[in-house]
Amino acid sequence: MNLTNRVAVITGASRGLGAGIAQAAYDQGMSLVLCSRSAPVLATGARVRTLELDVSDPDAVDAVAREATSHFGHVDLWVNNAGLLEPMGPLRSATAPALRQHFDTNVLGVALGCRAFIRILHDTDRRGVLLNISSGAARKPYSGWAAYCAGKAAVDRMSEAIALEEPDRLKVHAVAPGLIDTRMQALIREHGVDSFPNAERFRKTHADGDLVPPREAGDALIALAFDPAAARNEVCIDLRDR
Ligand SMILES: NC(=O)c1ccc[n+]([C@@H]2O[C@H](COP(=O)([O-])OP(=O)(O)OC[C@H]3O[C@@H](n4cnc5c(N)ncnc54)[C@H](OP(=O)(O)O)[C@@H]3O)[C@@H](O)[C@H]2O)c1
Repeated sequence: MNLTNRVAVITGASRGLGAGIAQAAYDQGMSLVLCSRSAPVLATGARVRTLELDVSDPDAVDAVAREATSHFGHVDLWVNNAGLLEPMGPLRSATAPALRQHFDTNVLGVALGCRAFIRILHDTDRRGVLLNISSGAARKPYSGWAAYCAGKAAVDRMSEAIALEEPDRLKVHAVAPGLIDTRMQALIREHGVDSFPNAERFRKTHADGDLVPPREAGDALIALAFDPAAARNEVCIDLRDR
């Protein structure tokens, strides 16, 4: 694929899957607006703008959208990737501030990103691709992940509703990316069976070398967005089903 002159906004681009998506998109020739609270994986340059962003801040999300259109003129792809897993453990142990931060990031943050991108597409009279990074936990409950399962299920349903609202503007997918070798996976492995009964299975997946490198997942997501050979019709997709 030659994606020169295509523009992407990627949230949570400082490490992990977001960094893998950013590197895959950059190597395909795309221009990028990368944002996270800490420094993104690629530095500012001719094809890269970097911005500090907390995705739960509505004004900051809108500022990212303005920066993208003022600098590059349009946006073809928006990836709502930023997310967190905590609080882990039974819901009875979770504090209200931790729950609020979780849903502010994983649900409100995605909604604000979707809204900003859809407004850009209407303002510029263009079509675009929206990828919301979901999880297998959207469809399957895990003890110890009540907030995470609920938030990712919300992302799936939000994406399906947006697909109905914007059929002329958007190709939208909520993507469960598989098990990716990131800091989030390292955090899972630190937990005991009392707070996360499935922890041993995740430790085994890591020990067996079965975690997917972030760059490999990034390549698959960019292909899903732009390669007709990788196109899928359904909104909610699990990359492991390919
Ligand atoms: N790893 C997996 O196996 C896996 C599986 C299924 C789904 N996912 C999903 O994939 C996405 C990326 O996860 P990951 O595994 O790459 O985790 P990670 O290594 O912990 O990276 C999370 C990213 O999100 C950013 N972030 C977190 N809170 C943010 C906020 N409030 N505002 C802006 N950026 C924020 C972080 O950057 P800063 O800290 O610099 O802000 C970081 O770049 C998440 O949505 C996750 O749920 C991961």
